[in-house]
Amino acid sequence: MSDVHVKFNLANDNEGLEDDEIFLPPAPLLAGAHVSGLQSYHEIYANSINNSDEFWKTVASELHFEQGSSKGLEWNFDAKKGDIYCKFMDGAKTNISYNCLERNLKRGLGNKIAYIFEGNEPSDSSTITYSELHAQVVQFSAVLRSHGVKRGDVVALYLPMIPELAVAMLACARIGAMHSVVFAGFSAESLSARIVDAQCKVLVTADGMFRGQKSINLKTIANSAVKLAKSENVEVSSLIMVEHLKRVTVPEGSSLPKIDSTEIDAIYENEMEKCRNVESEVEWMDAESPLFLLYTSGSTGKPKGIQHTTAGYMTYAFATTKYTFDAQPDDIYWCTADCGWITGHTYLLYGPLLNGLQGIWFEGVPSYPNASRFWDVTDKYGVTKLYTSPTAARALMAMGDEFLAGTSRATLKVIGTVGEPINPAAWLWLYKKVGNSNVSIVDTYWQTETGGHMITCLPGATPMKPGAASMPMFGASPVLLDSEGRVIEGPGEGNLCFDRAWPGMMRGVFGDYERFVKTYFAPFGGYYFTGDGARRDEDGYLWITGRVDDLMNVSGHLLSTAEIESALVAHEKVAEAAVVAAPHDIKGSFPYAFVTLNVGERINPQLIAELKKMVREKIGALAVPDIIQEAPGLPKTRSGKVTRRILRKIAEGTESGIGDTTTLVDESVIKQLISGRSARA
Ligand code: PRX
Repeated sequence: MSDVHVKFNLANDNEGLEDDEIFLPPAPLLAGAHVSGLQSYHEIYANSINNSDEFWKTVASELHFEQGSSKGLEWNFDAKKGDIYCKFMDGAKTNISYNCLERNLKRGLGNKIAYIFEGNEPSDSSTITYSELHAQVVQFSAVLRSHGVKRGDVVALYLPMIPELAVAMLACARIGAMHSVVFAGFSAESLSARIVDAQCKVLVTADGMFRGQKSINLKTIANSAVKLAKSENVEVSSLIMVEHLKRVTVPEGSSLPKIDSTEIDAIYENEMEKCRNVESEVEWMDAESPLFLLYTSGSTGKPKGIQHTTAGYMTYAFATTKYTFDAQPDDIYWCTADCGWITGHTYLLYGPLLNGLQGIWFEGVPSYPNASRFWDVTDKYGVTKLYTSPTAARALMAMGDEFLAGTSRATLKVIGTVGEPINPAAWLWLYKKVGNSNVSIVDTYWQTETGGHMITCLPGATPMKPGAASMPMFGASPVLLDSEGRVIEGPGEGNLCFDRAWPGMMRGVFGDYERFVKTYFAPFGGYYFTGDGARRDEDGYLWITGRVDDLMNVSGHLLSTAEIESALVAHEKVAEAAVVAAPHDIKGSFPYAFVTLNVGERINPQLIAELKKMVREKIGALAVPDIIQEAPGLPKTRSGKVTRRILRKIAEGTESGIGDTTTLVDESVIKQLISGRSARA
């Protein structure tokens, strides 16, 4: 286990909060909720654990299975007893895309709006009904088939938040191909690494997009990624490009980027036209057939392709959306996440569609055209359930309450947050200012790997404590373990693990069973280990304290320190690098890099710019260190291990808490680093 323990800095952040203040769910929410009152939560929870198969099968019975199964959840978390696995409803056959579309058409929801697409410019918006979405998905699944995509293939999607991304994901699922969505902020190298890992033959992209006033030429990045993949012997044979820029309003002061074509290009709109009346049947998938890959950072640097399968993920996405957001037929549900992350997969695409909700799909950014955008959109469409990130809340809060003025947000009933701990000040702002003290806040703790919510309040049931993820989701069984693997009963703090499987859990790391076991099941035999620490208070509420491994959480996105370090040392002037998380008011934390340069080199603004560029090109803008400090040496133990704990204290400016340094090879390095930081500041 690493010595890094990243904690969100909650110091001085309890402003306006009485000690132990608890907020009750608003009475109207309690009345009609799927889970009404804490007592009811406890009863259903106990049943979900004690009669788990029956519980999950009842949930699954609301969905369509072409063939049923007598099996429930089966799993082994203990490598000593054999291979690690989890299965749900083994032997059943279903299709998640069918459940999102045809099943809803059969329920009479054909004319219901599935999504409102709100573009980067407020004037660019459109809607799509369930039957229109279905028609487009069938059509695009035929396009994919015409490009040779078959059941079991992996299709890479590198797209902005536009309707075609929803269509492409559902089309892949319809024909049993796995989608691998790559966040459109990632670099060509990151995209290519994901294409190579899964041997993707088809890449779907767009010409470009605007984020606020900034234009991003996605096609150029996609072209470079295809070239890079080729140099690794993975040949992409089709690059399907949506002509998105042709239909958007160009922001004032911006211009359209120039789009370069290649021999493998196919224009999305032309391909769709060719398949206008082509039949494209649903593939009935085995319950445990892979559904998608989504890459997430790993402590060793190389991203891991997290693999989810069909029946379990579907059932869990359906159930958790229903319970966590208390999904109701008349909801206008807005998840602001990008589909490049798991939140977009489960709570923007699959969960809401499985529940037949009307969702909002947002292409823009919270600050454009100004910091009222979220609240304007909320009022414009009458949003009832809003799901966003603590980073967005902190950023908007910092802009000032004048951006709330002129909007009422009166339709809001539930505000969810995800991705990182929410500090009480931001929680209170969402509750009191945004939600007019008339909402439930659900702070949802989960991971790409868990597929869906693991710890959260339920809007009509759980009294809320600002900053606490609170209580386990149905079927989720969290345990806290000390460093020796002993279970901590009652109040205490430890490593957050789960001692039993749940339907939505990952089934593996793509192509790397060893890594799957090593990362999640080897640290504590018999348990799934999250990589997070948590504290349980006297009332049994769980509070996430942050990562306990070499990952850092920046604006709700996990980054690997090792991956950033290897990008930095790729520069010819850098001998060694160590990256740690330092607290940040808005982003939660930010990457702080210490670099040791080759003899004769000194840090200067140009070198810093080059290093930042290097990280941007190798990973993406979100991984760029805010601070790069020259380190004459790094604090190391006699066995050569960099003591990041010390670097973190230095980065934070809390060096008084460094503690014992006598095991270091060269203690004087610390003084140099502290004075280096002060000089830089
Ligand atoms: O550290 C936890 C943090 O985000 C990690 C998972 O990141 P990722 O797989 O990218 O998925 C993000 C969206 C689910 C976790 O290991 N995290 C997520 N939600 C919370 C959180 N930390 C505290 N509170 C949360 N609500």
